[in-house]
Amino acid sequence: MPAYRKILALESSCDDTAVAIVEDGRRVLASVITSQTELHAQFGGVVPEAAAREHIESVNVALQAALDQAGCALEDMDAFAATLGPGLIGSLLVGANTGKTLSLITGKPFLGVNHLYAHVASNYLESDLAPPFLCLLVSGGHTQLIVVESYETMRIVGSTLDDAVGEAYDKVARLMALPYPGGPVLDRLAASGNPKAFALPKATVDGPYDFSFSGLKTASARAFEKARTLLGPDAESAQVEALQRDMAASFQHTVVETLFEKTVRCAQAHNLSTITIAGGVSANRGLRQRFERFVQENPAFRLYVPQMAFCTDNAAMVAASAYVNPITDDIRQEVFSRSLTRP
Ligand SMILES: Nc1ncnc2c1ncn2[C@@H]1O[C@H](COP(=O)(O)OP(=O)(O)O)[C@@H](O)[C@H]1O
Ligand SMILES: [Mg+2]
Repeated sequence: MPAYRKILALESSCDDTAVAIVEDGRRVLASVITSQTELHAQFGGVVPEAAAREHIESVNVALQAALDQAGCALEDMDAFAATLGPGLIGSLLVGANTGKTLSLITGKPFLGVNHLYAHVASNYLESDLAPPFLCLLVSGGHTQLIVVESYETMRIVGSTLDDAVGEAYDKVARLMALPYPGGPVLDRLAASGNPKAFALPKATVDGPYDFSFSGLKTASARAFEKARTLLGPDAESAQVEALQRDMAASFQHTVVETLFEKTVRCAQAHNLSTITIAGGVSANRGLRQRFERFVQENPAFRLYVPQMAFCTDNAAMVAASAYVNPITDDIRQEVFSRSLTRP
């Protein structure tokens, strides 16, 4: 397997334009993320057309900023990489075409990356993690338990049957009239709320490692509406905020316990003593704390979580993935059909 020491990677699958330069798959020389959060917040979610146009505006600025941060020139790179899917096609095209153009003008290879492989690889950054391990991948679009057998071979052993965790966070927040994206907002509110204030249901699903969050989302929204109505139309803002805190804490508690229990059971069943968490929701403080407590009490287990900057979408993880899985030819075959689907 060729080792591309310095990889410049682009990530533009959704609403972040990101460019990073990573050395030997682990050392981050530069990581630039241009967020579009403010643009989409006014619509309460990502607008694909607006996202694509914003990527066109930002990509060269982010590229130059990454080169400056690393103190490198394009000629110093050994390969270029970009996320090819899954994601919003108008957004993906910007990063993919930029990466391919850079490859063309420098004569260095272009490596195509699957966004989910990249989230899994985020835990290699600035760490000594090596397979085998179990990865709990939790983002706005995905919730999966992945057995990472080797750098190249991954197997999905569990997934959500309906909403992804991040999606449930965003929807519950919206129903509580909180801003987008809801995950970080609910996480912050949860820290000072009562997790036992609302008894919320934990879904029962057939597969031992599968998840379902749509029932919890609906139950949370109903419980909040009912409690909000009881407060009456003239409720003081402090009262409404206390209610939001308690609902955030109760919702988060139920989500975290569900994810935690299934992940640990899955690790034990597959004889894996290393657990990693990845994806936007891995930034969640409640989730990180629950797993941290577990490994403190069970020293036979090891836990890896990405640095905060590498939880939500970023390009450093794309470079890390391209390094361990450098796919140069037959991109459609390799990146799309081998995308993380169940055998
Ligand atoms: N602290 C947090 N707690 C819970 N969810 C979070 C937190 N930070 C981000 N998220 C959620 O992560 C999701 C974004 O994940 P990310 O991997 O960046 O994007 P995508 O799903 O497009 O790949 C959003 O749903 C967001 O609400
Ligand atoms: Mg993502």
